[in-house]
Amino acid sequence: MPSIDLHTVVPGPRSRAIFAERTKHVAPGPFHTTPIVAAKAQGATITDVDGNTFLDFACGIGVTNLGHAEPTVVAAAKEQADKFFHTSINVVAYEGYVEVAKRLNERAPGRFAKKTFLVNSGAEAVENAIKFARAFTKRQAVICFEHAFHGRTYLAMALTAKANPYKSGFGPFPSEIYRAPFPDFYRWPGVGDGTPVCPGKLPCSLSRCLCREAFARFEEIAHADIGETNVAAVIIEPVAGEGGFIPAPAPFLQMLREWCDRHGVVLIFDEIQTGFGRTGTLFACEQAGVTPDLLVLAKGLANGLPLSAVVGKAEVIDAVGVGGVGGTYSGNPVACAAALAVMDKFDEPKTLEHARALGEILEARLEAWSRKFPQIGQHRGLGPMRAIELVKDRTTKEPDKAAAAALVKHNYEHGVITLSCGTHGNVLRFLIPLVASADQLNEGLDVIEAGLAAAR
Ligand SMILES: Cc1ncc(COP(=O)(O)O)c(C=O)c1O
Repeated sequence: MPSIDLHTVVPGPRSRAIFAERTKHVAPGPFHTTPIVAAKAQGATITDVDGNTFLDFACGIGVTNLGHAEPTVVAAAKEQADKFFHTSINVVAYEGYVEVAKRLNERAPGRFAKKTFLVNSGAEAVENAIKFARAFTKRQAVICFEHAFHGRTYLAMALTAKANPYKSGFGPFPSEIYRAPFPDFYRWPGVGDGTPVCPGKLPCSLSRCLCREAFARFEEIAHADIGETNVAAVIIEPVAGEGGFIPAPAPFLQMLREWCDRHGVVLIFDEIQTGFGRTGTLFACEQAGVTPDLLVLAKGLANGLPLSAVVGKAEVIDAVGVGGVGGTYSGNPVACAAALAVMDKFDEPKTLEHARALGEILEARLEAWSRKFPQIGQHRGLGPMRAIELVKDRTTKEPDKAAAAALVKHNYEHGVITLSCGTHGNVLRFLIPLVASADQLNEGLDVIEAGLAAAR
């Protein structure tokens, strides 16, 4: 039986009425990708207040990786809600926080003593990771990358690359933030139409090793603009998320690791979007074989309840003294209970096996689309975290933001919720529920393929 009705009327009358109230009463700042108003959600689908059912290929921006209303996660949260909502870890401790920390320390890569600090949002975790790194190194500078998205609070916003709409009009920003080129080889200087595929390991077999070029640019900035001994931290997303689903090749991450070791710099991986199975492994860095000093997590950690974490080397986390970090709601008990159930699910091998199988279906379909639709400049990704970049012309690679927006609209009007991304807004990203069936995935992809065919 199909999951969706291809003849949905979007927005329906009830959704339109609620949106009219939203316009009157709610700050206009938060964007809305669709005019849909949710009534309930289950697994890979969302049903709106007008009775339309949609496949959710956005997962609330990569959060509900285990699907909506995952029964064990809901049961765990309900059980904790019956006991208590909140005591504040700063006042009266509770076991859930301790257990989440212990289990994240066990699951995060790295054979060294680890500790974990919990907060609420991704941006808050990023900010705290920088605090730990600065306290540990007693240095100030932070190197981030082009295409980065690290959040919307002031320090996180300063680390974020995309000026519009995230930064314009909000300056001044915190200082001591430096930006290096991200290894985006589709748009790398001097690289033409036939983007060389990075072999993913060193020594590089390509006549021109772009990882080395990207790393040389990074090294030059670190040396000439900042001075290595002033650098506290390097922060990078192993797959640039909001920036366009661009995987950083493993050799580049390995070079960063070696450089950080050489210069006593804390390497931070922001795995807020790539974590919890999004790329087919619990954390994306496992696939690159590179261990960060600090791992920043949020989104999928509690499958929809607000919870984020900084997990990493005990000596770095221990550098902040009592009272130096914290927060009233940090590590909420209900969110911690949900996170423990999430981790139980990911401990079952079939969860990640299924995620990887979906990734393979997705990759094969996107590869076929690339051959068929000239508006796809590149398809790329890691495991099930995949995207297509839409361009006006394959040779000039001129970004086609309007095409991405039109495709997102076509998709939800035909029952599939998707999101765009990319520094130029021209990328369609797939944040599929990792519990979707192969049939649901293909059903949604058929809808999107029809949209691409109509736009050709
Ligand atoms: C890689 C990355 N870092 C940080 C953030 C910010 O997280 P939050 O919106 O929870 O503050 C996001 C959110 O999309 C993200 O994708």
